[in-house]
Amino acid sequence: MKRVITYGTFDVLHYGHVNLLRRAKALGDYLIVALSSDEFNKLKNKKSYYTFEQRKSIIEACRYVDLVIPEENWEQKIDDIKKYFVDVFVMGDDWKGKFDFLKDYCEVVYLKRTPDVSSTMTKEYLSSGNISNEF
Ligand code: CTP
Repeated sequence: MKRVITYGTFDVLHYGHVNLLRRAKALGDYLIVALSSDEFNKLKNKKSYYTFEQRKSIIEACRYVDLVIPEENWEQKIDDIKKYFVDVFVMGDDWKGKFDFLKDYCEVVYLKRTPDVSSTMTKEYLSSGNISNEF
């Protein structure tokens, strides 16, 4: 059983997230998502539209996701990798190089980000009064 882990806020889940989760799962058999808690988001100066519990219920419903755990700080990654016997750590390539120190513990893979979509863009677009992303 090859175990894969990825981290993030995954607010207002969009197709860029789904692309990332699908490719992450394809790298192994079991995908763990460490989902940023509301407190950790504050620390990152992020404010999500959905609460942790709401984001958790949405991402748990994704067919590629096997387990959701909370991400509560920057330092937990090595402990998570050991605790969950993780083989592959995955992040989008906006994080390229940032987690290379984890290569001592497991494989580290950066996947290409899906262009032109993000939670921030979606929220800004909707709050500006647009209800469709078609021009
Ligand atoms: N991601 C991706 N492609 C996108 C957006 C996100 O591959 N277009 C990936 C990120 O690289 C990360 C994961 O999805 O590995 C979770 O990212 P998150 O920061 O929650 O999503 P964003 O949409 O980037 O959110 P924000 O706008 O709040 O930064």
